[in-house]
Amino acid sequence: MCGIVGYVGYRNAVPVLIKGLEKLEYRGYDSAGIACVDHQKGSLSVIKEKGKLGILKEKLGDFTIEAHIGIGHTRWATHGEPSRANAHPHVDASGKIALIHNGIIENYAVIKNALQKKKVRFLSQTDTEVGVNLIGSYYRKSPKLFDAVKRAVGEMHGFFSFVLFSKDDPDTLIVYKRSNPLVIGLGHGENFAASDVTALLPYTRQVIYLEDEDLAVITAKEISIYSLKEKAWIKRHPSTVHWDASQAQKQGFPHFMLKEMYEQPEVLKNILIKRIQKNGEIFFDTVDRKFQKRLRKIKRVSMISCGTAYHAGMVGSVAMGKYARIPCQTEVSSEFRYGTPILNPKDLVVLITQSGETADTLAALREAKDKGAVTLAVVNVVGSTIAREADAVIYTHAGPEIGVASTKAYIAQLATLLLLSFYMARIRKTIPATDLKALLREFKKMPEHCAKVLKESKKFDRCAEKHYTRRNFLYLGRGCNYPTALEGALKLKEISYAHAHGYAAGEMKHGPIALIDHEQPVICIAPDSLTYDKMISNIQEILARDGIVIAIGTEGQKDLEKMSDDFFSIPKVPEILSPLLTVIPLQFFAYKVAVLNGRDVDQPRNLAKSVTVE
Ligand code: AGP
Repeated sequence: MCGIVGYVGYRNAVPVLIKGLEKLEYRGYDSAGIACVDHQKGSLSVIKEKGKLGILKEKLGDFTIEAHIGIGHTRWATHGEPSRANAHPHVDASGKIALIHNGIIENYAVIKNALQKKKVRFLSQTDTEVGVNLIGSYYRKSPKLFDAVKRAVGEMHGFFSFVLFSKDDPDTLIVYKRSNPLVIGLGHGENFAASDVTALLPYTRQVIYLEDEDLAVITAKEISIYSLKEKAWIKRHPSTVHWDASQAQKQGFPHFMLKEMYEQPEVLKNILIKRIQKNGEIFFDTVDRKFQKRLRKIKRVSMISCGTAYHAGMVGSVAMGKYARIPCQTEVSSEFRYGTPILNPKDLVVLITQSGETADTLAALREAKDKGAVTLAVVNVVGSTIAREADAVIYTHAGPEIGVASTKAYIAQLATLLLLSFYMARIRKTIPATDLKALLREFKKMPEHCAKVLKESKKFDRCAEKHYTRRNFLYLGRGCNYPTALEGALKLKEISYAHAHGYAAGEMKHGPIALIDHEQPVICIAPDSLTYDKMISNIQEILARDGIVIAIGTEGQKDLEKMSDDFFSIPKVPEILSPLLTVIPLQFFAYKVAVLNGRDVDQPRNLAKSVTVE
């Protein structure tokens, strides 16, 4: 959470920072600010505002600044309410050092106390201001910023990254990373730092992903990295980013979320091309023979993730049990890491994450590694921390996802986890080759089916128009579509702010049935499946109590269509593949309800795209 960007070089820093923040705003949007050294006057300017970047941009219209060094920040509030005073950058008491920060300094209160005793005054409630003042206190004793930062971070607990500079040396940025992402962009006569490569793509594709405890000194011409872990100056090799910058634009769509929903058939197609070879074998380019050998010995699988990625893990778990015949559990990362998990080298822990930076999932990965389990990351963002720290990684290749509500990344996670389960089934010989062939043949049709469901989206619009003022929704599903019910409910609540609850349909009688009356919409996910008849019984029970039934079924289910107030159908597909389609109408429904309620679809209140604090 929080987007950070830094620049030093020949261009005017201000537009570079603003352009970077536009790309990073999805990380947090409680306030935005920049700090730079005015090239003519040599003075430090800090301009920051509460609210979205647009407000800061308007404010910047009052200034003409030419600067060749600067830092910019977009905030997701942790310590202190969203306000101008709490907005970053923060400046130390001497007024010389400006700093932006992503993460949490856990022992900030103790440090603040000590600094207050030395008469340092604080203007905000943030841990960030404490950090910059601790650095400032050492800088005043010996004016070498690098040494001051090195000493100060040694006293700070928690996980965070910083970018800072002093107006005494307006040619040098200092950056530090501990757990939270930080990437350096390499230019000619200029260099960049950011929490996310998307901010760098307009300028460079050559990047260095910093490792934990790296402290880098960046000038327009040079980058030097000191590893606090290795206690030495080190070389980190640059990588090339292959993402297409245009993928991070709206391309005529009113919202990123809608654009990303429409990209789903293409995402599926790419995954299938990459993962299914001409000879019909499933192939993961990043899984080598040695890792494959470890996979053969696996006796138990845990799928660990948060939010939408957790729902993808639940579907993956059903497939892993059914096809690879391995006991498989799913757990949210925050519960797993504190639940003293019992693990050994025959356990495979699969960490599923779009961003590859989610704090709880990263902590779960470290816990699993500590306990000797085999770890596999299923990640979208290439080069992210979780992708780098796991024993192996499988990329989901969904491309940049900007909308806070995850859509195409979910589809990509589902497809990848299903293929992983089939792959495990193949190496464990728990699926006959002919069955797998037939399944993959059906899988290859999914991009086309997905495009068809998207095309029929207008129908979902009409249903949303009928119900968008309601405040309570119930979602029911069974088997591999129980996670679809959870995902549909999560989508609706995060972008429309209506209360939505996902339930296993069989559990309805154990409580939620009390909610049902003529005003209660129940979204029933009932495609062709082993439990179809059971779903029909649940729907009868809802109708008997006058509830409103919105059903997602399979083409040709006339009985279900007759029973429902609204009915959407998906093409007939094997049950295990159906979650790739049933979720699409639910994404549309959530999107339309949010738009009709005038919500900020891409940047819903209180949320951020990647949750890098616990
Ligand atoms: C989904 O719409 C969410 N915004 C959220 O639940 C997200 O899936 C979760 O925070 C996990 O993020 P990750 O995949 O980047 O780890």
